[in-house]
Amino acid sequence: MYFDEAPKSRLEDLYDFEEQVRELRTSIRRRNRLIVLLGLRRTGKTSLLLSCLNAEKVPYLLLDGRVFAGRQVITREELLRQLESSLNEALSRAGFARRFLGALRGLRGVELSLPHLRVSLGWAPPSRVADPLEVIKALARRGRLILAIDEAQEFGKLAGYDLTGPLAHLYDYVPNVQVIVTGSKVGLLRDFLGEENPRAPLYGRFRVEIELPHLGEREAREFLERGAEQAGLRIPPDLQEEVLREMDGIIGWLTFFGARCRAAGRADEQVLRRVVEEGARMAAEEFQNFLVGREAAARRYRILVRRLSEPARWREVKEAVERAEGRGVPGKAVSTLLQKLIDAGFVRRVEEEYRLADPMLRRASLMGLI
Ligand SMILES: Nc1ncnc2c1ncn2[C@@H]1O[C@H](COP(=O)(O)OP(=O)(O)OP(=O)(O)O)[C@@H](O)[C@H]1O
Ligand SMILES: [Mg+2]
Repeated sequence: MYFDEAPKSRLEDLYDFEEQVRELRTSIRRRNRLIVLLGLRRTGKTSLLLSCLNAEKVPYLLLDGRVFAGRQVITREELLRQLESSLNEALSRAGFARRFLGALRGLRGVELSLPHLRVSLGWAPPSRVADPLEVIKALARRGRLILAIDEAQEFGKLAGYDLTGPLAHLYDYVPNVQVIVTGSKVGLLRDFLGEENPRAPLYGRFRVEIELPHLGEREAREFLERGAEQAGLRIPPDLQEEVLREMDGIIGWLTFFGARCRAAGRADEQVLRRVVEEGARMAAEEFQNFLVGREAAARRYRILVRRLSEPARWREVKEAVERAEGRGVPGKAVSTLLQKLIDAGFVRRVEEEYRLADPMLRRASLMGLI
């Protein structure tokens, strides 16, 4: 069923992306050590990841960076909590519980509750603190393991603990472990992985990159039609065209619309208006999260996003800032801020023009939410 909002976790529920599915499954089978899934927000990264992981039947741990999107720093305790819940989730999936429990027995800071098949990781210093790297190495001693890190760039905010050091160690010394990372903030993910920084722990390690594109118009239409058919909905042709214009090939927004239609039991203009309003609020909140810790430049970022609700060239963006501030602004300052918005996945550059990557952020801007 396409029109279900939760990330898909089975290949049967996944629309298309055949090429990406093939690439990811092949990379898993070939035991590529570092696999990177890139795509703007709501392009289906988590769905692709979960569906392929489940199809390949290799035990995995899934860390979710997304929950930290609105945060400036994360503590080591929070990392351990994430690891703990990923372990418990892995234990609840069939097949690997014995292997996992056997591997974890006796590790520092790890407590097992055998009757309930649960693990808890200690975090209170000095002696009972579990070491994430030791936990993963112990599991890998008994066989293959995939460490999947969704929205991995968020773990760059860990205070006093650099996760990329242990990841580089796993890459170099623990061949049983494959690491798969995803990120919607593509520039930030590249920074986290240290692609251009020779001193970064993961610098220079070979990685397979898989990119998730927006759907083309034909595919987006097909997705809506098939989704509607599965859900027993009829989307009138005019409305369908409007949805396609509004959602700009982003599978997550198309799904959101479809799911709301299912809930309402009908597809009409009113449902679309509500979806767009809610989508705009969500996009505005994501942008708000981005501004956390960037308060000094927040006003300028807002000016940029408002201006980019229509595509604009660099000069036009600069003029918009100058007009809003009533004075000249150095070009370098504008370029830096634009680049940060691109790195965080809010803005795309298409040839000489800059534009908002997410049509709902554009809506948010037009609604005065930015
Ligand atoms: N191939 C697909 N077929 C059907 N539905 C999909 C597909 N890909 C994504 N979706 C749906 O689109 C929405 C967004 O998907 P998902 O969460 O996987 O994307 P994402 O790129 O991880 O998003 P985010 O950037 O928000 O983390 C979800 O509701 C999901 O069910
Ligand atoms: Mg995701």
